Amino acid sequence: MSVQQFIPKPYTASVKNGSFKWSSPSNIALVKYWGKKEDQIPENPSLSFTLSDCKTITNLIFSEKQNQDNFSFEVFLDDDKKDDFKPKIETFFKRVEVFLPFLRHYHFKIETSNTFPHSSGIASSASGMSALALCLMSLEKALNNEVSDEFFIKKASFLARLGSGSACRSLEGDTVVWGHHNEIKGSSDLFGTKYPFEVHDNFKNYQDTILLVDKGEKQVSSTVGHNLMHGHPFASKRFSQAHKNLSNLITILNDGDLDAFIKIVESEALTLHAMMMTSMPYFILMKPNTIEIIYKIWGYRETSNSKICFTLDAGANVHVLYPEYETESVMKFIKNELVVYCQNGHYICDKIGFGAKQL
Ligand code: PMV
Repeated sequence: MSVQQFIPKPYTASVKNGSFKWSSPSNIALVKYWGKKEDQIPENPSLSFTLSDCKTITNLIFSEKQNQDNFSFEVFLDDDKKDDFKPKIETFFKRVEVFLPFLRHYHFKIETSNTFPHSSGIASSASGMSALALCLMSLEKALNNEVSDEFFIKKASFLARLGSGSACRSLEGDTVVWGHHNEIKGSSDLFGTKYPFEVHDNFKNYQDTILLVDKGEKQVSSTVGHNLMHGHPFASKRFSQAHKNLSNLITILNDGDLDAFIKIVESEALTLHAMMMTSMPYFILMKPNTIEIIYKIWGYRETSNSKICFTLDAGANVHVLYPEYETESVMKFIKNELVVYCQNGHYICDKIGFGAKQL
């Protein structure tokens, strides 16, 4: 599918005002996206588990306006006006305007809230941008009744990607691929698609407990981080490694091979951070407590039959992944041995989920 297909024909209906509300979750990548080309095209394919409870709820209230010179919108987070969110949304509107030509025709009030604390170090860009893209698609569907369900979700993911790359993996569940991969039919650089193959029962209801090691603002924005992959000495090897890891994961997910799963997931997490540590300028986003937790997880795995493992985003927090049947024992281990490394003892219990919902 080419970009042109997301440019709509003239709308057939008129809508004066109204509102649309969506909730959309965060997601955690197993094969990481790090490095992009122009227009948010990823340098390599990625695969993620959609989360269930960490989500953004966005209500888009719109009313037609006369003057179409500018975008007109205001943003609220938990009822507080957030003018500092506006530049990011303005940039997003500019990027997607050609695909949503109605954007200048309305005044928008964007009311948004997250189920996780704003300053938790959990990025709200994936859940936030996907929720906003879905609200905008609902308006497009009201203006053009011919939009099919399949196209709706595809275009919403396409738009979300233009807001924040990984956001395009948040709309559906429970496993999503983004970026073209030879062995995954339908996979695309333009939008996320539901993982099309069999996934073993071992991964059903997979658990993700997020240990909040550092709730501060990111030292390096992901835009800056992605850009540091241009001219990075290990970039091309890294991009081909991601293709290979995704190939291997297809068999692993099918067979339910948890030991092989652990190896790929942890290697991907450490590779992501290795790319940051070897870029110029270089940086370290892990904190001493991130490393302490990783060693504890390795120790626990060695002395038990546990299939617990970790992954990391572009930050210090640790996502602890484990099969549902281990919930009781792993939670005991987390409370007894890992919570001490969390800022204020805070962590979030989540699990694999099934995507966005219209409210
Ligand atoms: O969506 P962005 O541009 O914030 O990039 C996020 C990249 C990682 O979270 C580090 C990895 C991923 O694939 O989600």
